[in-house]
Amino acid sequence: MQGPFVIAAASILAGAALAQAYRPGPENIAFPAGFEREFIRYATVDKPDRKIVRFLYVNREAFEAARQGEPLPYGTVIVMADKRARLGADGTPLLDLDGRIITEPDYTVVAVQQKERGWGEGYGPEKRNGEWEYASFTPEGQRRSVSLDGCFSCHLQARKAEDYAFQFWDYVQARRR
Ligand code: HEC
Repeated sequence: MQGPFVIAAASILAGAALAQAYRPGPENIAFPAGFEREFIRYATVDKPDRKIVRFLYVNREAFEAARQGEPLPYGTVIVMADKRARLGADGTPLLDLDGRIITEPDYTVVAVQQKERGWGEGYGPEKRNGEWEYASFTPEGQRRSVSLDGCFSCHLQARKAEDYAFQFWDYVQARRR
């Protein structure tokens, strides 16, 4: 009769250890596979100066739960996926009939920020972005070996009062429902 009890106790302990296993770093964020299908695209930003278009997605739960004037909910996953502009013979982006940039088909980079309760613990005040982590992936879901210090410092300096988010914060404040 000891076996099942030992196994049960061991798995409870393993669960507790997992729950406490947060260490600051991008590995906390998993690649949001299928984001184009599963998430909501709430904004698309043309960047003619950089000759890119940024496609901005958020997970449905956060899209529903976010409220004006309140910090973004735990479990928010924001995806910013870039595509290159398709260029004309003169090297400038081609525009569609709405004046929006026409893109090349493939994403070049998939940047993610995610907020979970207790995250951010361990970063110093010069870096910590509340309970957010950042990660950068290739479109295939491989982690890109780039420094993420810039993500923290830019979002911290520019958007501390907006819960470290940009377009999603603005979207939530502006929407009518
Ligand atoms: C120099 C400033 C700067 C740096 C560095 C930076 N960002 Fe951003 N980030 C922005 C701005 C500005 C936006 C809004 C989209 C736009 O206008 O390009 C943004 C938007 C985002 C969004 C969408 C947020 C939203 O609310 O819509 C994510 C996700 C994101 N950044 C992740 C990252 C990651 C990951 C890194 C580091 C690899 C990073 N950012 C580095 C300025 C920065």
